[in-house]
Amino acid sequence: MKKTETREWSFDEFDEHINPPPEVTEFDKVVDEALSRRGFLGGVMAFGAGSFVLGTGMFAPGEAAAQGSRLGFQQVAANTLDQVTVPEGYSSQVVVRWGDPMFAGVPEFDHATRGTGESQAGAYGDNIDGMALFELGDATVLVNNNEYTNRNIIWGNRPDGAAETDDDVLKGMLAHGVSVVEIVKGDNGWEMVKDGKYNRRITPETEMEITGPAAGHPLMQTESDPAGTLSKGTWNNCGNGQTPWGTYLACEENFNGYYSSSDPDIERTDAQKRYGINVEDWGYGWARIDDRFDIAKHPNEANRNGWVVEIDPSDPESTPKKRTALGRFKHENAEVVVNGDGRIVVYMGDDERGEFLYRFVSDGVYAEGADNSDLLADGTLYAARFHPDGTGQWLALTPETTGMASAAEVAIHARMAGSAVGATTMDRPEWVAANPKKAEVYCALTNNKNRAIKTNAGGDATPAMGPNPRAENNYGQIVRWWPSGGNHTSDSFTWDLFALAGNPTVHEDAYGGSVNINDGNMFNSPDGLFFDTKGLLWIQTDGNYSNAEDFAGQGNNQMLVGDPATGEIKRFLVGPKECEVTGAAMSSDGKTLFVGIQHPGEDGDSHWPEGGDSVPRSAVIAITRDDGLPLG
Ligand code: FEO
Ligand code: CA
Ligand code: CA
Ligand code: CA
Repeated sequence: MKKTETREWSFDEFDEHINPPPEVTEFDKVVDEALSRRGFLGGVMAFGAGSFVLGTGMFAPGEAAAQGSRLGFQQVAANTLDQVTVPEGYSSQVVVRWGDPMFAGVPEFDHATRGTGESQAGAYGDNIDGMALFELGDATVLVNNNEYTNRNIIWGNRPDGAAETDDDVLKGMLAHGVSVVEIVKGDNGWEMVKDGKYNRRITPETEMEITGPAAGHPLMQTESDPAGTLSKGTWNNCGNGQTPWGTYLACEENFNGYYSSSDPDIERTDAQKRYGINVEDWGYGWARIDDRFDIAKHPNEANRNGWVVEIDPSDPESTPKKRTALGRFKHENAEVVVNGDGRIVVYMGDDERGEFLYRFVSDGVYAEGADNSDLLADGTLYAARFHPDGTGQWLALTPETTGMASAAEVAIHARMAGSAVGATTMDRPEWVAANPKKAEVYCALTNNKNRAIKTNAGGDATPAMGPNPRAENNYGQIVRWWPSGGNHTSDSFTWDLFALAGNPTVHEDAYGGSVNINDGNMFNSPDGLFFDTKGLLWIQTDGNYSNAEDFAGQGNNQMLVGDPATGEIKRFLVGPKECEVTGAAMSSDGKTLFVGIQHPGEDGDSHWPEGGDSVPRSAVIAITRDDGLPLG
């Protein structure tokens, strides 16, 4: 995303503004190791002082055409329209929007006031991100993360776009969390069932059980919860996961920006610095209405966020569970795989510049029909090390390998554990997606302007090499790996780059992208990844939509489809102005693809979806084929 004068700071911009990481030394800038290796069969491109062999060369130009494309739709051209564009022969409709009442008695969204704390408590949350569908008896249940809220929009009724009253703050708070709703397909397409029996809002106020190694640890104990086993709420839920036993995983990402300190001179701990817990919050003002967000008074509260939360959508009364065995960091999503031996493997990215890619392996095994409800409570966490030669290792994070005092501390300070074992600093790992057709896993590395410029917040170097080959990387790439022996619990893997995003109309070097990127399908900042049942990879973007300079011709954020076998990538959808396209789920009959449109008009220039001079509203859309056939 581009920082403009009108827009608020993004999460990472704000973190860096407050807490700039140090510059790396010249020694760290060595790029030679990024150079040629077997498996990188593409063209050799000049790059800086040296040269390296670009990935994805296994996709020779024209190969896809020769094999017959599996992407059977007409590519959508990039555009900057304030609408959703899908291919000819496809249609999209809005299913549910921020502020839509989920229960009888809750008023319709008010464009003048943008609601109240009370109305928001019973209405769909804002900024739709991760999503999943559940078939519960006859009911289709849509579960969505509501990642955050744009202050300039939700408080756009106030003269300076900031909260004026305590109720403004509460409204903003309750727009966060998770929305669970029943949906049904009628004559007008898909719509929410008001008062559906599974309808539920989960918010920063919802009680949650803390499970796993960190439960009860002194670092988790607070004044309101001396036992350290019950925490209040979840927020900044970004991507998601879905388990085969019917639960939803909501992943807490930029949880830190909601904490502040009433003591401006507070001495922060190394851990608070590593996680970006700071004196100032990002403008949400939650400490104003609840002093658990004041780190001067309640320093351990922030240890109770940054987790994966397991939610049972079949029981609106159930208590969500924080799964501390999966580690504490800025979680993007949680991709769940059942390994051949029944153990559960969860792949997870930590979306911050120079942070790590993680894997959890359960102790227990999954069995259909058995009680699988606590499989995510116990297991081992690993961080990835990528070698430039196309191999890699999963490094176990334990007290023995990290020198940390306990499994609880490893979980709570997982980032520091990853640094201790020498995990590879990545270009902001976003969604991970596993190919349902083979043991192959993909991760979107969205971008990293600090690559080879600055260390991460823990002081780990960020050389341009391996799966993060470009310095000052504003385009991003998609890495994929193959677990040794097809076994997701194996500690070794091989890897390559599926795509290097770039702009071939502007750059002739590595910033032009890999051979499967061209002027017709180019994009920047891959983020959401999702496999359909055919084994096609859907790619969603959260990038720079200026459509100028380095990003000329790339238009608004978008969704594309890639074929893992051929490397072919085609643009399927373009979102409205200033949105991010994120979150996807396919109906069980394959005939509807649900997609999230997040923060349309974050810079003040959208009225999607209602048009006129309406307030822009994040929404879930449903995409169908006009001939009624399945998409995937
Ligand atoms: Fe919420 Fe990393 O995106
Ligand atoms: Ca994301
Ligand atoms: Ca992103
Ligand atoms: Ca986002």
